[in-house]
Amino acid sequence: MATYIVEDRKKITTQRIKAMKSEGQKISMITSYDYSMARLVDEAGVDIILVGDSAANVMAGYTTTLPITLDEMVYHASCVVRGTSRALVVCDMPFGSYQAGREDGVRSALEIMKRSGCDAVKLEGGAEIADTIRGIVNAGIPVMGHLGLTPQSVNQFGGYGLRAREEAEAEKLVSDARLLEQLGCFAIVLEKIPAALTSRVCSELHIPLIGIGAGAADGQVLVLQDMLGMNVGFKPKFVRHYADLHAVITDAVGQYVSDVKSADYPRIEESY
Ligand code: KIV
Repeated sequence: MATYIVEDRKKITTQRIKAMKSEGQKISMITSYDYSMARLVDEAGVDIILVGDSAANVMAGYTTTLPITLDEMVYHASCVVRGTSRALVVCDMPFGSYQAGREDGVRSALEIMKRSGCDAVKLEGGAEIADTIRGIVNAGIPVMGHLGLTPQSVNQFGGYGLRAREEAEAEKLVSDARLLEQLGCFAIVLEKIPAALTSRVCSELHIPLIGIGAGAADGQVLVLQDMLGMNVGFKPKFVRHYADLHAVITDAVGQYVSDVKSADYPRIEESY
């Protein structure tokens, strides 16, 4: 399998991410929630590691992202930061940490940055959280926006289906994207929207748009466990499997169990 060799190990900044769009370079982003995986994906050359609130699903087994707390996000983000030397580390602001208003949001963002050591935060929403984003940017914290399918609003949406199919929602998304750029966001995630809409937003904005289930964009993001084939039974059409770790891990652990049961493990050369 072809791999991408990164020779430049200099730490990636938000300025570098913005420059990548103007230089026509695609941006790779992937989630991680722990030290070991962060080391691997950083070594593999990913540009941005997102400590997503999808940790609620992937790490904790919840059915939505709503239950994860600020303390839990800080824990995951600080583990990732310790495992990363090159990638930009962005931490999701969890549900409930910014929706109550600007003061709450700025305080939460400051706490995430101070306690985790990450490089930027990500929040879901457009005009309705403009004041909060303005406050966070004014506090000197880089902000990544998130539009389209914003999973923290799942109860309002009634599910995880494609967003912005209808004209009115598509127009709101375009105006929200313009607003986030004006407010100083350095990039925006576009989740599960039609590819033609993504392409329109990418050509209108100067900042990079990172897609997930949104067709071609300035960059792409996937949940690590999904693309590694660990999340059996979850295969929406936008997820490409780059490995079958479900089989690799269950085979390896199954072999270990069998070796222990048959007393093949440990052997003399594996003992002191
Ligand atoms: O939490 C997450 O993993 C995300 C990505 C799906 C963009 O927000």
